[in-house]
Amino acid sequence: MTQNKVLVLHGPNLNLLGSRQPDIYGSETLEDINNALYEKAAMRGWDITCRQSNHEGELIDLVHAARLDGTSAIIINPAAYTHTSVAILDALNAFEGKVIEVHLSNVHKRETFRHHSYVSLRADGVIAGLGSQGYLAALDALDAAANA
Ligand code: DQA
Repeated sequence: MTQNKVLVLHGPNLNLLGSRQPDIYGSETLEDINNALYEKAAMRGWDITCRQSNHEGELIDLVHAARLDGTSAIIINPAAYTHTSVAILDALNAFEGKVIEVHLSNVHKRETFRHHSYVSLRADGVIAGLGSQGYLAALDALDAAANA
């Protein structure tokens, strides 16, 4: 495992950020969020890759690839798959590095079907409700843990 190599995974509909329900998800685009992550990662000396997919199987394939390419941590916003996907949970269970689950909105303040997360059964940490700052906080937490 290469220390300080992180994969950021964005799930379905997150490609629409900026125009999708901005009252809930904010006005930043996914590109804005990824750019902020790339910038912070460069400052901290992390090798970062950001990917988005609307397809469950593709997200699973990306987790599988991360098992083999030395990725030390995954920051994942599984979006709606959070609440439905045993398959993504199983893939993450087969990944040996750290996993941080991020949600832009505070899912616990929303509909009850959003209160349950399969991914939380695997996640080492969960951040919800901090908007795009949640991703940056996740990277900071990984960096602090790596340097502890
Ligand atoms: C989300 C919350 C999910 O319930 C929802 O399906 C999403 C985004 C969030 O970032 O707040 O698509 O994961």
